[in-house]
Amino acid sequence: MPQLNCLVIGSGAREHALCWALRRSRSVGAIIAAPGNPGMAEIAECVPIPGTDPEALAQLAVDRAIGLVVVGPEAALEAGVVDRLRERDIPVFGPTRAAAELEWSKAFAKHLMADNAVPTAAFSVHDSLDGALAAVRAMDTSVVVKADGLAAGKGVFVCRSRADAEAAVRRILADDLFGDAGARVVIEECLVGPEVSVIALCDGERFVRLPSARDHKRLLDGDRGPNTGGMGAFAPAIDADGTALLEEIDDRVFRPVLAAMARMGRPFVGALFAGLILTRSGPQVLEFNCRFGDPETQVLLPLLEGDLAQALLSAANGKIDPEALRRIPGAAAGVVLAAEGYPDHPRGGDRIFGIEAARDRGALVFHAGTRMHDGHPVTGGGRVLTVVGQGQTLDAALAVAYAGADAITFPGMQYRRDIAHPGRL
Ligand code: AMP
Ligand code: GLY
Repeated sequence: MPQLNCLVIGSGAREHALCWALRRSRSVGAIIAAPGNPGMAEIAECVPIPGTDPEALAQLAVDRAIGLVVVGPEAALEAGVVDRLRERDIPVFGPTRAAAELEWSKAFAKHLMADNAVPTAAFSVHDSLDGALAAVRAMDTSVVVKADGLAAGKGVFVCRSRADAEAAVRRILADDLFGDAGARVVIEECLVGPEVSVIALCDGERFVRLPSARDHKRLLDGDRGPNTGGMGAFAPAIDADGTALLEEIDDRVFRPVLAAMARMGRPFVGALFAGLILTRSGPQVLEFNCRFGDPETQVLLPLLEGDLAQALLSAANGKIDPEALRRIPGAAAGVVLAAEGYPDHPRGGDRIFGIEAARDRGALVFHAGTRMHDGHPVTGGGRVLTVVGQGQTLDAALAVAYAGADAITFPGMQYRRDIAHPGRL
């Protein structure tokens, strides 16, 4: 098989996991990461180009004979990296800027869902303060207020009282908390039920659904504390007993959304991530992300066997090969090790010990906020590492993940001890 050179854009644990899975793909030759991180540097060549520089990335891809680009972060999609690569005829797994509007505008996603009968919370969109306040006053007490644009995961306010909701609206529309990303707000009904993340690999028309996963957004055990970028995940979140539910999600979410995007001339190629709440009246979509989830990807990829590069390349070329990947039995769990002060003021520069010991215990260790200092890894961001275990059962996977996490130390390290069982320790 010809050797396929791959470029992975991004620098988090999600992209480290993508590099790890590509490294295991038989068809893959060189892997380049831009900008990458010290973990990725163990298995790929890191080139210091940021994900938001489409021109430089396209040039790198041409210069290095890249046959497949995989885009990690949403900022790269919004910056139009995929469009620039496609202009140069470089196969890329990721949506164009127009297709990624599903993520970078919540208002766009909500209107598309409403127009296509995709189940989602009742909502309204406002760009005036008076209109938004009137909408809040007309709703029941529990409402959710969201900035329209990308706000690094901080743009959503789940409000328990009308006063909270009014304050959230004022912060977004009057105080300009999120700049342009907050020029409009979405106000929606608050839904109740367990959350689940379902990701489909899409070729513009067809899709292959990955196992379901669940993320843990709160910093502290028992789902307490501030929201974060994700403190851990496990998969599958819906087991074999839930096949009918997953098929319902295919039929009511992925199929109509892909068809609508294609009809609008914005066919969706890439990972389409549906964040759902399983309410008593069925699954409802909270949001779409137009990329792999983080930390979901770190627990999903170990559950897949086969050639990830061929799966993504076939999707990038508009004809996804459903045989390229197989689901292997069992479960995976991931624990995020975060820096002192995360999420508000993460401290950098703390020396990290025990990564190899964690790997010796059978865990996978994916880097995110790390950097090298005098030949030794130190903290360099909020979420430092994701430690993943895999096993025949969820409990077995958790045991490996926690054995790995317990082997690692750095000053101020914080992690949740109740991944997969919030509140049950
Ligand atoms: P989002 O970025 O839209 O996924 O929102 C972040 C988090 O806010 C979600 O993971 C949910 O926990 C919560 N959330 C968002 N929308 C709603 C809603 N309509 N009802 C209840 N919780 C929500
Ligand atoms: N885990 C949710 C996300 O990637 O945004």
